[in-house]
Amino acid sequence: MSTTRKLVIAIDGPAGAGKSTIAARLAQALGYLNLESGAMYRALALKALQRGASLDDHAALAALARASRIELIPTSEGNQVLLDGEDVSARIRQQDVTDAASRVSVHPAVREWMVARQRELGAGGGVIMEGRDIGTVVFPDADLKIFLDAAPHVRTERRAAQHQQKTGLAAAREAIAAELRERDRRDTTRSHSPLVPAEDAVIIDSSALDIEDVIARIRALIEQKLPPS
Ligand code: DC
Repeated sequence: MSTTRKLVIAIDGPAGAGKSTIAARLAQALGYLNLESGAMYRALALKALQRGASLDDHAALAALARASRIELIPTSEGNQVLLDGEDVSARIRQQDVTDAASRVSVHPAVREWMVARQRELGAGGGVIMEGRDIGTVVFPDADLKIFLDAAPHVRTERRAAQHQQKTGLAAAREAIAAELRERDRRDTTRSHSPLVPAEDAVIIDSSALDIEDVIARIRALIEQKLPPS
């Protein structure tokens, strides 16, 4: 595949649609950086929890963000995340932080800070950034926008399988389904930059597709965007 021009690729979609896995695989194939914007919201949420800051206090959260150093280090497994120099990659995936991240992300002042940082990270091109508002707000001029969706019961099953693989324990499906429902509700109904497909996004419903199928489809779309070598 030609990599003469370094594209900016946005992948948005709800929790559990497979964005991180797909972004990491595509980035590896293309020699691009995979950046998980959600990990930045998670890192700020962790800091808020550690400091006992209210998740509803937009001014305190924005000040906390401005005083934070959040670094994403792309790897083939996803992003390693440093918060003020400390590796918080595993901690930010835990349930209390997941829930808090969705809550801190509703505040416009927090989003403004995040979007500015995310634009800096993507400025050089050669990035696949995944999140909720990448194609609509962060990179409205992205070369390719994918909206990756999947039916709620499929996303629940995928999350349950990931949980079992990670912990060796059977997952409580009803709890996972309820958590996804609540996050979907919050992410899609917030007034500032809600989760919606960009007008020019290619919508891929991965409910009946496996990872390889989704990657093949996106690679074909990327080929069309690259000049002939
Ligand atoms: O992708 P994720 O599950 O790690 O994201 C965690 C939360 O962060 C998600 O519930 C909503 C928020 N988020 C966002 O509002 N905008 C983004 N670009 C990425 C994540």
